[in-house]
Amino acid sequence: GSDLYLVYHGLLLPKATHSEESLKYLENFQVKDDDVFAVTYPKSGTTWMQEILPLLLNGGDLKAVENVPSWDRAPWLEETRAPVVLDKLPSPRAIVSHMQYNLMPPSFFKSKAKVIYVTRNPKDAFVSSFHFHQMASFLEDPGTFEEFTDKFLSGKVLFGKWTDHVKSWRNPELGDRIMCITYEEMLQDLHDALSRILKFLGRELSAEALDRVVHHCTFKNMKTNKMSNYSMVPEGVMDEKKSPFLRKGVAGDWKNHFSPELDAKFTAVIQEEMKGSNIRFPWD
Ligand code: PPS
Repeated sequence: GSDLYLVYHGLLLPKATHSEESLKYLENFQVKDDDVFAVTYPKSGTTWMQEILPLLLNGGDLKAVENVPSWDRAPWLEETRAPVVLDKLPSPRAIVSHMQYNLMPPSFFKSKAKVIYVTRNPKDAFVSSFHFHQMASFLEDPGTFEEFTDKFLSGKVLFGKWTDHVKSWRNPELGDRIMCITYEEMLQDLHDALSRILKFLGRELSAEALDRVVHHCTFKNMKTNKMSNYSMVPEGVMDEKKSPFLRKGVAGDWKNHFSPELDAKFTAVIQEEMKGSNIRFPWD
């Protein structure tokens, strides 16, 4: 542990955004059947889904979300703002979470609430996290790229191991309550991704409204939207000059960071831990 993090069921969480109280709130949270969760390992598309989900659930009304920061439109279930905003949120609620499956609140397992699980190439999530740790004052300094790789691969990072997280959510108990999608699929064809999400949620949007949402949720447009680009966070907390929160928004930036040796090590560890899981990704 460190002064900056607390330990919850063996997982490191930042104290800046998590507390004993917020985790109690998580544990006692009453999930409603029409709640929709977007679950991610950190740096895998959370902010993107925070932008997308409320719009898909409200019929594509951009006005309704114009003056509300993304983290209040689709709050984090486990964070300190949850008790402040979640109970007041009209249903159907969009909620995001970084929790592993087994750490969801008991009411979640009894509910019919749906989950969209977004996975990103772990190398890109890792690179994004490395830069995030350099710019956020409430996170530990990542050290060198090599040092941070070792921490990531051994799970001594926020929310634990990538492989544990991904595998935890492939639980057959969830049946058709879960839809898995990748960050890369969303990048490649956002229109198609959102159509599939709508279908999964049993919802419809006019062609015009869907186009509007797709346009609104592109990286370029989110980056200039004050309510989504984290520019409201004080510089002392997140220093955008060191690295912007909406940094690059691409697939494959890991190639600009990894040496061949480090890449081989990273790949070997992930492959070994995913062995026998039957989970295949486009980047494998
Ligand atoms: S966090 O801190 O866990 O909530 O971060 P998260 O939002 O999951 O991940 C941040 C990365 O997602 C990128 N991002 C996007 N990419 C493409 N399109 C859109 N609209 C978009 N919105 C956010 C963001 O830039 C971070 O990735 P990197 O690689 O650092 O750019």
